[in-house]
Amino acid sequence: MKFTSIYSVLAIPFFVWGCQSQQSISNKTPEEQAEALLPKLSLDQKVSLVVGMGLPGDEGLIEKVMGAAGNIQDFPDLSLPRVVLADGPAGLRIQPVRDSSDTKRYYATAFPIETSLAASWDTDLVTGVGKAMGHEVKEYGVDVLLAPGMNIHRNPLGARNFEYYSEDPLLSGKMAAAMVNGVESNGVGCSIKHFVANNQETNRTTIDALVSDRALREIYLRGFEIAVREAQPWTVMSAYNKFNGAYASQRYDLLESILRDEWGFNGLVMTDWYAGDDAVVQMEAGNDLLMPGVPAQKERIKEAIISGELSEDTLNKNVKRILTLIYRSPAAQKYAYSDAPDLKASAQIARHAATQGAVLVKNEGALPLASEVKNIAAFGIGSYDFISGGTGSGDVNEAYVVSMVQGLEAAGNPVDQELKVQYEQYIKDEKARLSGLEWYDNSKPIAEKPLTKDQVKAKVKSTDVALITISRNSGEGADRKLEGDFYLTDVEKSMIQTVSEVYRKHGKKVVMVLNIGNVIEMKSWMDQVDAVLITWQGGQEAGHAVADLVLGKVNPSGKLPTTFPVNYDDVPSSKYFPGEEVPGAEPIRMQGVFGFAVPSEVKHIEGIYVGYRYYQTYDVPVAFPFGHGISYTDFSINDLKLSDDTFKKELNFEVKVTNTGTVAGKEVVQVYVAAPGRDLHKPEQELRAFAKTRQLTGGEAQTLSFSLSARDLASFDTDRMAWIVEPGTYELRVGSSSANIVQLATFTVADEIIIEKGLTRLAEGIKIEEWGGPAN
Ligand code: BGC
Repeated sequence: MKFTSIYSVLAIPFFVWGCQSQQSISNKTPEEQAEALLPKLSLDQKVSLVVGMGLPGDEGLIEKVMGAAGNIQDFPDLSLPRVVLADGPAGLRIQPVRDSSDTKRYYATAFPIETSLAASWDTDLVTGVGKAMGHEVKEYGVDVLLAPGMNIHRNPLGARNFEYYSEDPLLSGKMAAAMVNGVESNGVGCSIKHFVANNQETNRTTIDALVSDRALREIYLRGFEIAVREAQPWTVMSAYNKFNGAYASQRYDLLESILRDEWGFNGLVMTDWYAGDDAVVQMEAGNDLLMPGVPAQKERIKEAIISGELSEDTLNKNVKRILTLIYRSPAAQKYAYSDAPDLKASAQIARHAATQGAVLVKNEGALPLASEVKNIAAFGIGSYDFISGGTGSGDVNEAYVVSMVQGLEAAGNPVDQELKVQYEQYIKDEKARLSGLEWYDNSKPIAEKPLTKDQVKAKVKSTDVALITISRNSGEGADRKLEGDFYLTDVEKSMIQTVSEVYRKHGKKVVMVLNIGNVIEMKSWMDQVDAVLITWQGGQEAGHAVADLVLGKVNPSGKLPTTFPVNYDDVPSSKYFPGEEVPGAEPIRMQGVFGFAVPSEVKHIEGIYVGYRYYQTYDVPVAFPFGHGISYTDFSINDLKLSDDTFKKELNFEVKVTNTGTVAGKEVVQVYVAAPGRDLHKPEQELRAFAKTRQLTGGEAQTLSFSLSARDLASFDTDRMAWIVEPGTYELRVGSSSANIVQLATFTVADEIIIEKGLTRLAEGIKIEEWGGPAN
């Protein structure tokens, strides 16, 4: 799915940049090179380094890689090449078509969205995807990929959830670390984003997220902390929003005290595009690079240095980090990029990844399709027009998207031709009708085609099974809507009901394929279908992947990275999302293209009770629990063995997973811990470790080993600003989903363990309303 962003609208003719730098490759480290150059720079040069070169289309900007989101200023006289930054989380986002005289196309691979990758629960797989993505980044002359996104799925209406992994910070952090390691193995950088508490699009540039220190530490910061500690990305992108009263990009406590001093981050921090309102405060906060960069920021910084408001030492620190990144970059290595990445290899990786992230949530004898099933009726426009990924900066300009129907046809299973012709004509007409709309409307899937009972009846005799696809799309600019998006439209509901009634009456199965970026309502229609396969937005090869799964060539092994609630009202943040305008506040003007915004606040009253931490602690029924996913085979998880029943420095344990069925498959083992609440209220249980088996054939077993450190077990005590493990009895719960725990063991912690204390407070002087656990 394509949409034209501001970046591509403003595109200017392609200019051959080539590799003209005079730079000689040094044998000093990038940091030493940075230190050596710093004293030679003038104030103007320093200011031009910390403020990006502007957006494509800005006066005088000649793009090095068309469609990239931004650039760091080059200085050929100083042998400093230009460094190019481009989105995004599902693959490299650049402009495929350059100028009319250039017939070459610069497509990149649309990989499955992050939610899909997280649903694989397979860090090796994600590293493999990262390697392939990083290869494209490097071969197209880009230096830093603006990914992965790693905000928390706080609310299903968050339009960018597809660019993020999970409602759980451990899963999110592990996935991001795996992705960064994969991408950066190519010698290019990643920018993990958006740091922090950027969980909505509504008022995104001015919203003030009111969040307690505990919720920040345990939920919103935790994934970033894991990614920084385990993968040390080249850069971190600070978020647009404020939290607890100040812009994320202007908080020294966040960017220096926590990110650098506490976690040991040694890369650079850049802003999100046009974020914040004071370039000098951003410099002081350790936000080294202002993107995409506007002239007023340069003037502000320069004047502040001259007047003494900003110290040159501070600016030097920012500049040094930028120089270090420049010297690390492929541009500085004079890498002769080919503009011809191996897209065929990437497509295979994308296809495999899409199969691994798909989650089979229900199956009553419908899948895989039996070999006798020859004639397939494909209902729903989504079956013919798959959405590969969401919109906005997370969208990829891929060469093609394989739909489910195309995937089935390629596998030798054509669908009913008459239905196909009708649907394809409808899609064509609707697209033509909507083509004049703005991108933000045009990027939404077109409305479902109304279907009469007679039309379905006309097909039931000649076909053996009904496959229905429901698609969703969302992205930057506006959060999702409740009606017609989270909840199905009336036409969609009626399609499911009609197909179900007619096919079941004839003893034929109905299979639902969900081509969605994030959570939708399922409970109300669930009983009307025999199987549901959530394929997410599975990238450009999704149709082949779906065919592989429904035909049984690949056994589904994904698990939900996010809970599917029964109703929207059950979502813990539903009453506070997306926040309210601050009474009496004057609209403020944003930098760049965003116009005016009214200051608003979003209270995080649910505190740490996000996702399953809420549903399970407060006993709220869900449609499908976190971690759920079934397979074409069965597994047993047995023989939980602990190294010790008293926790010392770490706890080691193992379990045996056996494929007790006949079909080969993989199982994800999830380890939850229920902790005693001495002083701190605790969720019912929390994910503390996970692992996926290799492909096990029928009867085959694999032993998986785990190790938990004190840090893995800790909770955050805001009185002492400390990570602590409380003494008492802990329950280790091992299972195949948060709701299917099959092995239990207890261990004790004799004395309180304090891991770190006196940490930086982020809600100083702010009164945060927050739940205190179910007992209160
Ligand atoms: C988005 C970022 C993106 C940047 C550059 C912003 O609008 O929030 O995620 O990396 O644009 O395209």
